[in-house]
Amino acid sequence: MATALAKAAEGSASVEHAARIEHVSKSFAGPAGQQLVLDDITLDVAPGEFVTLLGASGCGKSTLLNLVAGLDRPSTGSITTDGRPALMFQEHALFPWLTAGKNIELALKLRGVAKNERRGRAEELLELVRLKGSYGKRVHELSGGMRQRVALARALAQDSRLLLMDEPFAALDAITRDVLHDELTRIWAETGVSVLFVTHNVREAVRLAQRVVLLSSRPGRVEREWTVDIPQPRRIEDAPVAELSREITEVLRGEIRRHGQH
Ligand SMILES: Nc1ncnc2c1ncn2[C@@H]1O[C@H](COP(=O)(O)OP(=O)(O)OP(=O)(O)O)[C@@H](O)[C@H]1O
Ligand SMILES: [Mg+2]
Repeated sequence: MATALAKAAEGSASVEHAARIEHVSKSFAGPAGQQLVLDDITLDVAPGEFVTLLGASGCGKSTLLNLVAGLDRPSTGSITTDGRPALMFQEHALFPWLTAGKNIELALKLRGVAKNERRGRAEELLELVRLKGSYGKRVHELSGGMRQRVALARALAQDSRLLLMDEPFAALDAITRDVLHDELTRIWAETGVSVLFVTHNVREAVRLAQRVVLLSSRPGRVEREWTVDIPQPRRIEDAPVAELSREITEVLRGEIRRHGQH
């Protein structure tokens, strides 16, 4: 469909990177002094690329995503993005007193979309996430999967060239998650948006991405990366997905053993 999203994708063709992370380190002040959480991370996301960031719990994935989002600053190094990224988290963070449609319209309003255009755009975005007809539904009337669809539509309403997703499907049941994987893959292909997607689920990382980047723990470093050239649409149970997942899991296990995590 011809939304402003397609326009965003066209516009990014001349830009070299959707995100460029260069020698980024991040420390937090802790009881035992400064704790180094991320150590010298260098990573690019190309325009239109889908990258998953994989790592054990606590390795610094959310910290890195927050830095890319501009919610916090690196201790050293630099991050540049092609415009302001849109964000989507595990918790939908929709406003419960607004309907699905109005939640999306609020994002459009903040972006400066004219009042008389907002309703139509919100309906288009709801259709894109296959929630046509849910404009007037309140958040409590929606299932967990539907709420995440609205949250995705709201993130897309920002018309960003880069979508940052932090375990957005982690709280959903396996079947709903599977459906949303399909939807996200379709929307990514349709809109040309770049995606940096955080997960600790290896299969999910392989199911979705063109490139899987594995972070080590304590401190988080880029341990290894894999290009995933399995054709889309993939299924999480496909043999090549399972095979690569097994290989990555082995590396992740070894990494976790080395750092004494469970
Ligand atoms: N604002 C903060 N102040 C102090 N320490 C922090 C802060 N944010 C994160 N940390 C620490 O940084 C480390 C990495 O946390 P982060 O949330 O990035 O991990 P994660 O990889 O996203 O984990 P999970 O998979 O469980 O979500 C943790 O040890 C955490 O306690
Ligand atoms: Mg996290």
